[in-house]
Amino acid sequence: MNIIKTVGDMKTWSRAIRESGKTLGLVPTMGYLHEGHLSLARKSINTCDHTVVSIFVNPKQFEPNEDLDTYPRDLEADRRELERLGVDALFLPTEEEMYPEGFQTYVNIEGMTDHLCGKSRPGFFRGVTTVVLKLFHIVQPHSAFFGEKDRQQLEVIRQMVRDLNLDVEIVGLPIVREADGLAMSSRNRYLGKEERETAQSLNRALKQAQQWIAEGESSVEKIRSGMRTLIEREGRAQVDYISVCDPKRFVELKEIRGQAVVALAVQVGKARLIDNCLIERI
Ligand code: PAF
Repeated sequence: MNIIKTVGDMKTWSRAIRESGKTLGLVPTMGYLHEGHLSLARKSINTCDHTVVSIFVNPKQFEPNEDLDTYPRDLEADRRELERLGVDALFLPTEEEMYPEGFQTYVNIEGMTDHLCGKSRPGFFRGVTTVVLKLFHIVQPHSAFFGEKDRQQLEVIRQMVRDLNLDVEIVGLPIVREADGLAMSSRNRYLGKEERETAQSLNRALKQAQQWIAEGESSVEKIRSGMRTLIEREGRAQVDYISVCDPKRFVELKEIRGQAVVALAVQVGKARLIDNCLIERI
């Protein structure tokens, strides 16, 4: 596996792939890889001729009070896993390489980023879209792979691709869960034993919401408050948001008809956890 650290070398490597007529897949990550990331890399390997995984803990998507400094990192383990999978290149830029002195250009997607995670973390999506657009320009992939756990992020990136006429296919893949139902996330590492049990309430609440909806409940207010009760009864959980919203614009719904996303963000100890599911009422 090639380990590439500069923007110039990454551009040269990927240009050679494109010029040889082969397809290139990109899996952008912040490292500390788990099975969710690996499922994206596997999909890229299976559908593209060559695969690049990037690892960059992007400071621009963290709020000043967030966990940038303590975000988990284990580069050696990540490198071994990617090598074992058969990834062709690991792009590992430094902060100076991505944001050199004097950097002042940002990508801002409006509207859909005012809700859910965008409301609680005001600079988050601006940081994500800025770094992802830079990665698209540097790597020039034919396809890029993102997880549905970050469903709002996935849709924001799709919107950016449409709005800016980018030639990259965005592939979204299902949430990968631990055996106990907890959605895989690098931040799960922050959870102690009891917090880990509390964290399972996110998936339980989502399943309960799906069941209420299947049984005919269409009042979003009742679903939200029922989920909140289930989660808050755990004591150690602090709900940031529980949302039943439109799957593309992330605007809160009053009633469920057609497709909807049920999404939630909950602080459990040091970990801010998010999870969601897509539901359909015909
Ligand atoms: O989902 C993530 O890990 C990050 O937000 C991403 C897409 C790699 C951008 O830094």
